[in-house]
Amino acid sequence: MPLVCLKDFKAHARDRLSKSSWDFIEGVADEGITRDENIAAFKKIRLRPRYLRDVSEVDTRTTIQGEEISAPICISPTAFHGMFWPDGEVSTARAAQEAGICYITSTFASCTLEDIVASAPKGLRWFQLYVQSDWQLNKQLIQRVESLGFKALVITVDAPIVGKRREDIRNQLDLMKSLQLKNLRPPTERNSVPYIQSPPISTSFCWDNLSWIQSITQLPIILKGILTKEDAELAVEHNVRGIIVSNHGGRQLDEVPASIDALTEVATAVKGKIEVYLDGGVRTGTDVLKALALGAKCIFLGRPILWGLAYKGEDGIEEVLKILKNEFHTSMTLIGCRSVAEINRDLIQFSRL
Ligand SMILES: Cc1cc2nc3c(=O)[nH]c(=O)nc-3n(C[C@H](O)[C@H](O)[C@H](O)COP(=O)(O)O)c2cc1C
Repeated sequence: MPLVCLKDFKAHARDRLSKSSWDFIEGVADEGITRDENIAAFKKIRLRPRYLRDVSEVDTRTTIQGEEISAPICISPTAFHGMFWPDGEVSTARAAQEAGICYITSTFASCTLEDIVASAPKGLRWFQLYVQSDWQLNKQLIQRVESLGFKALVITVDAPIVGKRREDIRNQLDLMKSLQLKNLRPPTERNSVPYIQSPPISTSFCWDNLSWIQSITQLPIILKGILTKEDAELAVEHNVRGIIVSNHGGRQLDEVPASIDALTEVATAVKGKIEVYLDGGVRTGTDVLKALALGAKCIFLGRPILWGLAYKGEDGIEEVLKILKNEFHTSMTLIGCRSVAEINRDLIQFSRL
């Protein structure tokens, strides 16, 4: 049977993957309240279509940080793609390049950054940094990604420590054996570090340290994981260039709001001064439309990309992206928007929010 929606890829991945790999993708902190809420909150929002507009031509293209993407649907950073497909992130990078969208590569990639870039040299890539306690290592990594042509530095702010993921703890022995980090040593050494021996993420990193990062790189800085207006205002004050409204797919602090519920607060606070994006719970074309209507410039996908990767590697991710892009195109057509610029808050029924 053909896979026709993102949920079908999820079912396929569940059947195909080992228990520990499946649990790693699904993984949530504590009770998983936020992960489930990410999905449920989208479904509480209703749409207000406008008819009798000429929708014979509908264009899904947009830009992020000045770069064109074929649709406002990009790839969130997720760790260890080698767990789901032999080529790991190399396949992901190729699929993103083919789709004409942005791929945020994780600090915890299972391929080297050099191999990822070589596999898809024309792709738009941002690098996600888990700020390390070792500042020299941060400097090396940042300058390495800049010279490799990554176009932005995405700093994940919601993970000074790892949330309590019950299933990963239960499966620990199995999972840890296979996980190697490939980018936490200079490329000349090419040594991978077993995940269990990886250097610690910084718990002391704070707003004041941002200027040091800005002093060593020209890359625009994007903060991933902001959920409040207070932090959004601080981000603008600190010359950050974008925010990804995110709760890490419910894997960090449980019982924070769904991303889509936090979006309005953050988008209102930045007053259009910087771009705002969203990840968490996006599974259909109407979800993409709702996120854009509430102020996101584009959305990023976490788990669905891994389901696609587990299905058929590069081709599987391409299928996931194509299906979601087609659904988004259909939603735009049916709601009466010919371009992404025409998507706005009037499309949302506020009484249901
Ligand atoms: C298996 C897995 C690994 C992840 N690894 C990272 C990571 O290395 N860095 C990071 O900033 N976020 C990571 N995340 C969070 C994602 O970037 C993203 O915020 C989340 O998956 C979005 O929600 P969604 O899965 O509902 O699309 C990971 C998420 C998953 C599911």
